[in-house]
Amino acid sequence: MRELRLGVLISGTGRTLANFLRVAAAGELPAEVSVVVSSRRDVPGNQIARDHGIPLVIVDAREVRGIEAFSEAVYRALDEYRVDLVTMAGFLRRILIRPDYRGRIMNIHPSLLPLFGGKGMYGERVHRAVLAAGMKVSGCTVHFVNEEYDAGPIILQSCVPVLEDDTPETLAARVFAEECRLYPEAIRLYAAGRLRLEGNRVRVLPEQARTCLSEL
Ligand code: GRF
Repeated sequence: MRELRLGVLISGTGRTLANFLRVAAAGELPAEVSVVVSSRRDVPGNQIARDHGIPLVIVDAREVRGIEAFSEAVYRALDEYRVDLVTMAGFLRRILIRPDYRGRIMNIHPSLLPLFGGKGMYGERVHRAVLAAGMKVSGCTVHFVNEEYDAGPIILQSCVPVLEDDTPETLAARVFAEECRLYPEAIRLYAAGRLRLEGNRVRVLPEQARTCLSEL
């Protein structure tokens, strides 16, 4: 499996970035984080990038106004570091999808999309809404990004139970633990060339049968 050059887009705590780095250090991610792009100057995720010596590009959404200029600045950084795959990791801005990046940008959302997604649905708000709806299961969704919030083709989903005495915090923690498993899995499938975009569906191709030469 080839080693991907990964661009990670953040706006916050960087827990997802930290998870990628942990999984990569364990040799379980066929990818290296080549650049981190942050939409905020003052978030803890930026320090994680610095601590690991990863190039950090800040495109502050409060300074670079307008979605065109903002998207352009993000792509400039991704191009400079020759990124193969872009992973949004707690990134709270929308970007335009440049045609050559279609099917190369992933995001993760802490619910079973299309439920509990869309503009303004992030963080604790999602889990609060899940509990208010009386859901018995929740989960997370990895998807390719298109121009609409949380609406791109779904790559992988995973469920977690909603327990009787859950609070938004306890549910969030259970969902996030599952995210830490699911997002690297999606990256591995991408690296293995096993994700095929067919309209709005993503087909996960079976693993190629491997023939061991010594057995021939
Ligand atoms: C998670 O809820 C994830 O689903 C969403 O952002 C949150 C993680 O952000 N995309 P961070 O990695 O803690 O900054």
